Amino acid sequence: MSAPLAIILAAGLGTRMRSQLAKVLHPAAGRPMIHYPVLATKAAGCARIVTVLGHQASEVTAALKGLPCQVVIQRKQLGTAHAVLQARRWFAALRAPVVILNGDLPLLSDATIRRLLDAHRSQPATLSLASVRLPGPTGYGRILRSAGGRVAAIVEEADATPAERGLTEVNGGLYVAEGRWLADALCKIRPDNAKREYYLTDLVKIAVAGGGVVQAVPVEPAEELLGVNTRADLARAETRLRERINARHLTAGVTMRHPATVFIDDEVTIGQDCLLYPMVQLERRTTLGSGSTVHAGVRIRNSRLGKGVTVLDGSQIDESDVADGAVIGPFARLRPGARVGAQAKIGNFVEIKQSVVGAGSKVNHLSYVGDATIGRGVNIGAGTITCNYDGTRKHATVIGDEVFVGSDVQFIAPVRIGRGAVIAAGSTVTRDVPPGALAISRTAQENKLGWTKKKFATHKRKKK
Ligand code: UD1
Ligand code: CA
Repeated sequence: MSAPLAIILAAGLGTRMRSQLAKVLHPAAGRPMIHYPVLATKAAGCARIVTVLGHQASEVTAALKGLPCQVVIQRKQLGTAHAVLQARRWFAALRAPVVILNGDLPLLSDATIRRLLDAHRSQPATLSLASVRLPGPTGYGRILRSAGGRVAAIVEEADATPAERGLTEVNGGLYVAEGRWLADALCKIRPDNAKREYYLTDLVKIAVAGGGVVQAVPVEPAEELLGVNTRADLARAETRLRERINARHLTAGVTMRHPATVFIDDEVTIGQDCLLYPMVQLERRTTLGSGSTVHAGVRIRNSRLGKGVTVLDGSQIDESDVADGAVIGPFARLRPGARVGAQAKIGNFVEIKQSVVGAGSKVNHLSYVGDATIGRGVNIGAGTITCNYDGTRKHATVIGDEVFVGSDVQFIAPVRIGRGAVIAAGSTVTRDVPPGALAISRTAQENKLGWTKKKFATHKRKKK
């Protein structure tokens, strides 16, 4: 038998989300929700994956970039059976099993998909579906069984009698059937229900009427088949995803002081012996080298941190690179394009944007460094600013190795500072400085002797 095909239904807007954004684009643990069923069906061995898109199809297609799936469009959302029919050309002549699943099942694992496929083969069944027992099954289709206990039909909530609503065995939105049978059966479905939609769940009646066997395969834990219809469902799914992600990293040798407050996105990688304090957020494709420590209240997004990096409290790192042994923060901000060298130090209230800070260099206090290239072993004094913006364009500051910059210096870019130069504290640097030179630009100090006494005397006279 050839490998299974997967069809993922994701054309709906998701009215119950009350959102401008199509439901499957809502992120859960750093990925759009649609990624999860695609990854799960891939991991379950599906040879081809077809997503049925409708609402915001081009945005969803963009979100799927790089994932192994095809797209078909359902122009009007006439129901889940109609959605599957849009992918008909992929399965009409297929002798292999087709896995159909709703796109709003972010907690479904590949193991459960495999289990349903195995059950379908070994039964053998015309149609297999995943079921769960839910004490409060609101929103799910109820599974009706015949007197003999066989699955006879699925009734949607809107069509259910009060007695049927009381049933707790429900349809999870994951099905397996053979391609050719499916193509045939779908054409028999009519929209004769409260919502006037083509219900995929009517496949059950059709299979039974044709003398086939329908099996409901119970899935545990029930959370696997949590269908996200509302924001509350999304929050629940996200909480569980995060617990699973944290468990994965704890197992792999990451210490978390308080895992419940640590938010790690699905694509993050963390080396062994990293230590994460409470309220840390690691987002998107962030990687943390081994032995790094991230203190409380830090957010790191799409960044690469080397080994043994320390990020102190309250810092934010976005689209940046930090090499081995560097120390960032507390309260530092690395904006996109910051590249901090090995053992370098970026201290409190320092902002770095689109700049290189060389190995062992220090920008320790209250600075703005933008569009700059700073060499190795450089000291940037407290309060130093690169004045990179002239109101129209951005300009570069280039500082050579071993330069010493005193406190409160402004670099009026574009400007270049030669290797080993010294910039006196309080200078405004408007011209290039040659290697090894001292640059000083500040008005000579004048001390007016006795000035305060005289001022005080005048003040007194006025008061009288
Ligand atoms: C569906 C099932 C229900 C089951 C539940 C499990 C049907 C009729 N009902 O209900 O028995 O208990 O899932 O979670 O299938 N979609 C399309 N095109 C459409 C309509 C829907 O692509 O025309 C997509 C949606 O984007 C969504 C999925 O199909 O990803 C399921 O639709 P949804 O409206 O969430 O169905 P439920 O009411 O949850
Ligand atoms: Ca749903």
